[in-house]
Amino acid sequence: MGDVREYPNVMVMDHPLIQHKLSIMRDEATGAKEFRELVKELAMLMAYEATRDFQLAETTVKTPVAETTTKVLAGKKVAVIPILRAGLGMVDGILELIPAAKVGHVGLYRDPETLQPVEYYCKLPEDIGERDILIVDPMLATGGSASAAVQFLRDRGAKTINLLVLIAAPEGIEEVVKSCEDVRIYTCAVDSHLNDHGYIIPGLGDAGDRLFGTK
Ligand code: PRP
Ligand code: URA
Repeated sequence: MGDVREYPNVMVMDHPLIQHKLSIMRDEATGAKEFRELVKELAMLMAYEATRDFQLAETTVKTPVAETTTKVLAGKKVAVIPILRAGLGMVDGILELIPAAKVGHVGLYRDPETLQPVEYYCKLPEDIGERDILIVDPMLATGGSASAAVQFLRDRGAKTINLLVLIAAPEGIEEVVKSCEDVRIYTCAVDSHLNDHGYIIPGLGDAGDRLFGTK
């Protein structure tokens, strides 16, 4: 396997603030409250980068002292799609930057034996095909969940899809790049590998359990 960071559709966000916050999240001593805050903050920082290519149009604004030509967002509207349940932790951070975005939900869990994604819920905005999509999930491990989510969305007409994850395994990136052409992957880190249970090493453990305190 080559260096997955060199794939053209993979953006590794190595900003110092992002790396610092991610290190605190990885620490097993970090409790659920701080973990949740950090997921939200990282999602907001990621949204800033993932929207860098959004289209602008010129408009005219009258300031208190002069009229000027300036720019406003003019491209497609946005849909944020968390993969349940850990993806929920990233939604509020993104909505703080893009408050007009609609939110759809894709419910998937990973079968602990087969590591295959199992669908249990899907509710999307009706105009999903006309929106820029940000799928959010803290962890990209085997890539099975993310690929399945991309496929659901494509089946329902989605076109422009970005995937925002906090930590990716090389195996997951390979899978998404292979099975989901044109999907841009934004990640804060590419870790070493998966262990025999499909956990990212070093990773941060089970993101859903750490967010919601279920273990
Ligand atoms: C985790 C994580 C991803 C998935 C990643 O969810 O939030 O959705 O695993 O693994 P994959 O890349 O191998 O598919 P999990 O299935 O543990 O469900 P949860 O969010 O409800 O805890
Ligand atoms: N899901 C998680 O929450 N953590 C991992 O390391 C892998 C999948």
